[in-house]
Amino acid sequence: MSRAVLEPYRIKMVEPIRLTSRSEREDLLQRAHYNMFLLPAEAVTVDLLTDSGTNSLSAEQWAALMIADESYAGSKSFARFEETVRDVFGYTYVFPVHQGRGAERLLFSVMCKAGDVAPNNTHFDTTRANLTDFGVTCADLLCAEGMDLQLHHPFKGNMDVEALRTLLREKRERVPMVLLTITNNSGGSQPVAMANIRAVSAACREFGVPLYFDACRFAENAYYIQQRENGYSNKSIEEIVREMFSYGDGLILSGKKDALSNIGGLLCTNNGALVMRLRERLVLTEGFPTYGGMAGRDLEVMRVGLREGMDANYLAHRLGMTEYLGARLREQGIPIAEPAGGSSVFLDARGFLPHLKLEQLPAAALAAEIYLEGGVRTVEIGSAKLSSGETMSLVRLCLPRRVYSQTQLDYVADVIGDVWKRRSEIGGLEYEFKPEILPAFSAYYRPLSAVAEQELATAD
Ligand code: F0G
Repeated sequence: MSRAVLEPYRIKMVEPIRLTSRSEREDLLQRAHYNMFLLPAEAVTVDLLTDSGTNSLSAEQWAALMIADESYAGSKSFARFEETVRDVFGYTYVFPVHQGRGAERLLFSVMCKAGDVAPNNTHFDTTRANLTDFGVTCADLLCAEGMDLQLHHPFKGNMDVEALRTLLREKRERVPMVLLTITNNSGGSQPVAMANIRAVSAACREFGVPLYFDACRFAENAYYIQQRENGYSNKSIEEIVREMFSYGDGLILSGKKDALSNIGGLLCTNNGALVMRLRERLVLTEGFPTYGGMAGRDLEVMRVGLREGMDANYLAHRLGMTEYLGARLREQGIPIAEPAGGSSVFLDARGFLPHLKLEQLPAAALAAEIYLEGGVRTVEIGSAKLSSGETMSLVRLCLPRRVYSQTQLDYVADVIGDVWKRRSEIGGLEYEFKPEILPAFSAYYRPLSAVAEQELATAD
C-alpha cells in the first residue's frame, strides 16, 4: 500500500456546512429549475461546481491583504504585483483585469476582427463566447488522443500541430493569433506537453502568428510536465513555468485558479506595439492600468498566490486528490474520462446513463441526481464530438484548492456510487428555457414528461 496523500497544510479557520434532507433537496432542485448554478450555495454539502475563485487563502495571503495599498494610480501593491508577474512568466507588459474573461475581451479587442479564425486546443466556454461575440470563428484543434474518453495518455491536452499547420497554410491572413489552453479545461483538464508547446510555437513562428496562452492552470500543467515528460523530473516548477511561457508572446489568465485567489485576472504581452491600445481599452472597461478592476488587496492576494500555487508539495497533494477521487470512482465501475484531470474528474454521463438519448440531457440529469442523492454539486459540461463520432456528455467534479479533505471526497465517491446503483431508474430532462449565450449557466430544465419519454422511445 502506498502512503496517504498528505495535505501540506493544517486548518486554521473552519466554515460550517449545513446538512440538508432529501426532501429539502427535492424542493430546492425544483426551485433551481434543475440547474446546479441556480442552487443556493448554503444548500450544498460538497461543492464541486468549480475551482474558480473558491480557493482557501493562506495565512501569508491574509497577511499580504493587510498591507495592500488602495491608491487609485501607481500603488505599491501594483508595483509588487508587476514585479512578481514578470519574474514568474518572463513577459514585459503586465495588465491586471477583474477576472479571466476580462483579459479575453481586452486581448481580442486589440487583436481580432470579424471574419477571423482563432485556433486553440479547446476553447473554454467564455473564450469561445467572447470570440464569437467579436465575429471570430473558433477552431478547436485538439489532438486525436484527447478525443478518446477511455484512452490513457500523459498529454491529452496537446494541440494537433499538423492541423494547425494546415489551417495556417490555408488561412494565414485570417488568423490573428493562436491560443493554447494549459491545462485544457474543456477537454478534461488534461495537460499539454512541453514538446507540444515547442512544436506549436515553431509553427506560429514559421507563419509569423503570435502565440498566447490561456494560462489559468499553468502550475498544474507544469507539474504534469515535471512528472510525465522526459527530461523534466529534475527541473523545478518555476523553471518549467518559465520555459513554457518562453515559447509564447503573452498570456491571458484567470487568477481564480492556480493563482489561488478569489477574484482577479491578468493579461501579459511582449508586444510593445499593443501597449497603448491595451491601456486605452483597459481604462474604458476595467479600470486604471495599475488596478484593472481589482482592489489593491486582490493584487496582493494574487501576488502571493502565484508563488504558493507553484509549490511542489501543494501540487503533489492537489493532483493526488483528483487522482484519488478518479480511482475511487473507477473501482466501483463508474465510467470516467481517463485519466483523471488536473483540477477535475469527469463522469461520462452517456456511459453512466446509456438508456438516455442526447436529447434527454444525460449530463444535466446526472448532475441533478447526484445533488438529490447527497447534496453534492457538480456541473454538466457542454457536448463535443469524440473521435469515435459519438457526442460526449460529461459531468465535471471540480475540486476547489485547499478546501476539501479526503473524507469529503470519499463521501462524494459514496454518493455517486449510490446513484450508480440505481442508474437504470433515472429519467431525462428537457429545456424549459435555453438562453442563447452560455446556456449552461442560466438554463431552466424540467423532468421529461412521460409522454415525451414515450415519444423519444418510439422515435427510433
Ligand atoms: N479560460 C479557462 C480555461 C477557464 O477555465 C476559465 C474559467 C476562463 C478562461 C475564464 O476565467 O472565470 O475568471 O472569467 N473557468 C471557470 C471554470 C469558470 O469553472 O472552469 P474567469
